[in-house]
Amino acid sequence: MNASDLTAGFNRGVRIAGTGSAVPDRVLSNHDLAKMMDTSDEWIQQRTGIRERRICDPEKGEGTLWLSEQAAALALEDAGLTGADVDLVIVATVTMEMTCPSTAARLAGKLGATPAGAFDITAACCGFMYALNLADSLIRVGRANRILIVGCDCMSSIIDYDDRSVSILFGDAAGSAVLEAVDDPTRGSVYQSLQADGRGWPSLYIPREASQIAAGDEDNPIKLGNLRMNGREVYKFAVTRFQRAIKDAFEKTGLEPDEFGAFICHQSNARIIESAVEKLGLPDEKVYVNIDRYGNSSAGSVGLCLDQMRKAGRIDESKPTMLVAFGGGMTWASSVWRH
Ligand code: COA
Repeated sequence: MNASDLTAGFNRGVRIAGTGSAVPDRVLSNHDLAKMMDTSDEWIQQRTGIRERRICDPEKGEGTLWLSEQAAALALEDAGLTGADVDLVIVATVTMEMTCPSTAARLAGKLGATPAGAFDITAACCGFMYALNLADSLIRVGRANRILIVGCDCMSSIIDYDDRSVSILFGDAAGSAVLEAVDDPTRGSVYQSLQADGRGWPSLYIPREASQIAAGDEDNPIKLGNLRMNGREVYKFAVTRFQRAIKDAFEKTGLEPDEFGAFICHQSNARIIESAVEKLGLPDEKVYVNIDRYGNSSAGSVGLCLDQMRKAGRIDESKPTMLVAFGGGMTWASSVWRH
């Protein structure tokens, strides 16, 4: 199917006008973790591909709003715009410092994006993808002309560093993009999916109270308020759903793997990405991997990759880009983006 068939019925498209990203300076390496808990650099690298991750220093005021502001300011600068030029701000996060007001409202206030609408969305590691697809749709139907999206998680604020099973995976990061209306409807997200299966919630969750602990997870020593994960369940879910989401995108668009200019995958585990490359025949050199340096930064991950790839000239904009993620919920999402 060609791009005009996929976007029939729309008379506007969307372009990425700018991107930005931010990570804290503080590096937490596998060797650092091995001094804090019973683990090793070798174990972590072999099972996940991670060498180090970045984590915020709350004593310096670093956190979700701080990271979001840096990434968003860079995206606006890249687009040659200011906060006053956008009419909506969406922040995807599970680590908002306050639920009211939203991170997006406070961010909009800091950026001078008034009276732009502002709200947070929560879709865990799929957050940036949910924001991207939603923003694309709002622009396409004419409800907005320019939307600033941010995916940001300060995972270190919800990690129990006494536990080795979850803490080794995650890091902190923010990725941002400014999306803008264009006349050509065949530009932007020409195919997208947003999906979830809430029945799988106990695989990845953050209970605030003991009554919220999932059946069978009562003996888990992870402290309340911190992320809990059934690693094996998530792994099985991730490998199948991730590959299914990519296959669906191939089938629905009629595009073959080598017709894409880049694949931007949520960075959860290098083995999950490698398995998709192998099983689906994705061109290795077009699949970006930065998990070795940043770990899994949840909603920050896809936006961080997008910005790093764009700035490194690694996105061939003459071809579509595939963006894909999965995460807590359980959620999964994809987008085939024509530049
Ligand atoms: N260091 C050393 N040993 C560890 C360890 C660590 N950090 N964490 C767990 N282990 C041990 C376990 O206790 C277990 O020991 P046992 O066999 O004596 O019981 C052994 O290693 C194997 O544990 P297991 O959980 O089966 O490992 P795994 O091969 O499944 O790898 C993950 C664990 C977390 C790396 C893997 O399950 C995974 O990546 N899951 C998906 C996570 C994910 O993507 N989450 C985010 C989704 S957005």
